[in-house]
Amino acid sequence: MRSPSYNHHVTAFLLLLLPHLFHGVGGDWTGDYSKLSGIIIPGLASTQLRAWSILDCPYSPLDFNPLDLVWLDSTRMLSAVNCWLKCMLLDPYNQTDHPDCKSRPDSGLSAITELDPGYITGPLSSVWKEWLKWCVEFGIEANAIIAVPYDWRLSPSKLEERDLYFHKLKLTFETALKLRGGPSLVFAHSLGNHVFRYFLEWLKLEIAPKHYIQWLDEHIHAYFAVGAPLLGTVEAVKGTLSGLTFGLPISEGTSRLMVNSFASTLWMLPFSKYCRADNTCWKHFSADVRDKSDHHNYHCDEREFHFNFSGWPTNIINIEIPSIPGFGAYPSVTEVAEGNLSSIECGLPTQLSFSGCEISDGTFFKAIEDYDPDMKRVLHQLKKLYHDDPVLNPLSPWDRPPLKNIFCIYGTDLKTEVGYYFAPSGKPYPDNWIITDVIYELEGSLFSRSGNLVDGNAGASSGDETVPYHSLSYCKNWLGPKVNITRAPQSEHDGSDVQVELNVEHHHEEDILPNMTRLPRVKYITFYEDSESIPGKRTAVWEIDKANHRNIVRSPVVMRELWLEMWHDIHPDAKSKFVTKAKRGPLRDEDCYWDYGKARCAWAEHCEYRYLFGDVHLGQSCTSTEPFRSLADIFENWRHIPLTVEQFPFVSSKVETASQIFKLLDDFVGRNLTRCLSFVCSRFLQLEDSTAVSDLLAAQPSQTVSRCILLFYG
Ligand SMILES: *[C@@H]1O[C@H](CO)[C@@H](O)[C@H](O)[C@H]1NC(C)=O
Ligand SMILES: *[C@@H]1O[C@H](CO)[C@@H](O)[C@H](O)[C@H]1NC(C)=O
Ligand SMILES: *[C@@H]1O[C@H](CO)[C@@H](O)[C@H](O)[C@H]1NC(C)=O
Ligand SMILES: *[C@@H]1O[C@H](CO)[C@@H](O)[C@H](O)[C@H]1NC(C)=O
Ligand SMILES: *[C@@H]1O[C@H](CO)[C@@H](O)[C@H](O)[C@H]1NC(C)=O
Ligand SMILES: *[C@@H]1O[C@H](CO)[C@@H](O)[C@H](O)[C@H]1NC(C)=O
Repeated sequence: MRSPSYNHHVTAFLLLLLPHLFHGVGGDWTGDYSKLSGIIIPGLASTQLRAWSILDCPYSPLDFNPLDLVWLDSTRMLSAVNCWLKCMLLDPYNQTDHPDCKSRPDSGLSAITELDPGYITGPLSSVWKEWLKWCVEFGIEANAIIAVPYDWRLSPSKLEERDLYFHKLKLTFETALKLRGGPSLVFAHSLGNHVFRYFLEWLKLEIAPKHYIQWLDEHIHAYFAVGAPLLGTVEAVKGTLSGLTFGLPISEGTSRLMVNSFASTLWMLPFSKYCRADNTCWKHFSADVRDKSDHHNYHCDEREFHFNFSGWPTNIINIEIPSIPGFGAYPSVTEVAEGNLSSIECGLPTQLSFSGCEISDGTFFKAIEDYDPDMKRVLHQLKKLYHDDPVLNPLSPWDRPPLKNIFCIYGTDLKTEVGYYFAPSGKPYPDNWIITDVIYELEGSLFSRSGNLVDGNAGASSGDETVPYHSLSYCKNWLGPKVNITRAPQSEHDGSDVQVELNVEHHHEEDILPNMTRLPRVKYITFYEDSESIPGKRTAVWEIDKANHRNIVRSPVVMRELWLEMWHDIHPDAKSKFVTKAKRGPLRDEDCYWDYGKARCAWAEHCEYRYLFGDVHLGQSCTSTEPFRSLADIFENWRHIPLTVEQFPFVSSKVETASQIFKLLDDFVGRNLTRCLSFVCSRFLQLEDSTAVSDLLAAQPSQTVSRCILLFYG
């Protein structure tokens, strides 16, 4: 898709408004856009942290003073890494601050939009800035968009204990309702989805059970789960053994020390969809992990034992344990090796493999406890902060939350890591492991770092570069037994390449795939929609070809679909349950926006217009003469061009032929009526006659006409 030009297209369509908007919708919030709020829950490392200390950094001109940026000011970081680390690190056991420096998350929108702009442009630059730009362009009120940044270093229970984060989040929803009169839309990205899940569980304990659903209905209209690692991500395991640099110029060892001091790293561990917390049923674990007092152990159903790899494409970790004389000293390893000790006895390294289930329940960490001094900490945190969390063990599959509308949105078909081979490096902690191989998934196959195909249980597609498809697509389980599937090109299109399958059967816990074609080099978006299985509730899954985990939030295609769906959703006259995908034209234009902006724009008006466009009933809704009166109202708001209905011949007479359009255009060309062009252009759509359009082009290749044509067919 030509995203840059896309942004520059004209949207003079803002003019096409339905009259009822001007008369107000009244009563319930439904249809009144001005009452909604958007609440953004950012992902890992997407919230700024600021110092709340005075720290003298020797040998560096830059000290840390209160409110100095810690995450992330890369200049300061580079000039005094050890000093910076003091402000970043938490105590590995109790998650308290370093004695010399503490940091706290920033608040407000800027906390998530200003992550060191300029210096590091790569993976760490802000993902939300573009998103906010859209909001502003569409005239959304400043107080309607709320970010709920959090200290992404902490486990969920610590977020509440230290910062009362979930209390504050509840208040945020309640304040938004009070302030604006309507519910909120939740936009969560990546780890933000885990945060939101925990919030929903926490809330269940906070509110009387009979009021829980009522609270949700009143406060949350829709939940947009973007890039949600619903079954965790294998990268979290890599982070635990060899660090995650986040693209920063720090060594892996340093980054390992850092991420391992954050309990949140374990929040993203991969787990099995077949094992639920609460009961005990471990495959082969050492006795002391299987502690009888553990009330949050796992109960796995038979599929865990029947299928390999806990349902994942391959084993998540394969690790070479060095041979050791006298294996009795290493009971954890010998137990895991399940009795076949011949290789250990012979002094050869033993390769052990671990599935998702064995990682999330601690088996893996227990097995390498003797080779890695950090594993005691991991096991401690895993048990205390996750397995024994009184609200929820987050390392367990998530059933569809009882929210009215859920949109699960993720990128697919990118090369994504799904498994690792680790071996001891011979160096001391934190550099004691090296990665000897990586297994990737890409478009339905698995291969190793050297490019060789690998056997396994590859999914139909691949992940978003960070989170495997298996984890992202878990939300397909939230769809009911019948699903409507639509595949459309991501770029602007006229509908000729849209494929639809209605009421496709979907077996619970099985992936659902359309029987649809793909043209080479076309990027598609595939919608899975269910508005039937739960009365009054809707669930949708959007798969966006080649959208990367971080960038999906600023992807123009996702933004466009989000806006269209939102406008459709709250449109009082919407007939279909979801916005139609039949056609997609341009949505934004910066020039046009400015013209329109000066003339006072209400969000509702923009939305309304775009709903119409998105719904492709553009032509239909213009057939009555009523809208044109509103059009005139709008024109009157542009005081510098006082226009009346009479000045628009097409207002009273229905345009039917290309020659009539031609005449209208002719009238307009040369007059300062750019904004009216849109209206005329819309007539092209109504005619839907490509020969008429090409005739027109041939006859009148003026800038105006070609612009008009480009608008729709470019
Ligand atoms: C946390 O641990 C550190 C060092 O292990 C200790 O100094 C501190 O007192 C502990 N804090 C709490 C609240 O337990
Ligand atoms: C599991 O893996 C084993 C050995 O790799 C293989 O023989 C078996 O067929 C696999 N089972 C399933 C259900 O894929
Ligand atoms: C132990 O492993 C060896 C070699 O990998 C194999 O030949 C042998 O059958 C195994 N023994 C058992 C009891 O699984
Ligand atoms: C897929 O679609 C093709 C053509 O539309 C049809 O011939 C084929 O039977 C379909 N396959 C399945 C599994 O439905
Ligand atoms: C699929 O679409 C049809 C037609 O729009 C609709 O009647 C039906 O309810 C939809 N099915 C589901 C599962 O939402
Ligand atoms: C409208 O006309 C004026 C004067 O001719 C010109 O300065 C201005 O740029 C025109 N505006 C547009 C949007 O074409």
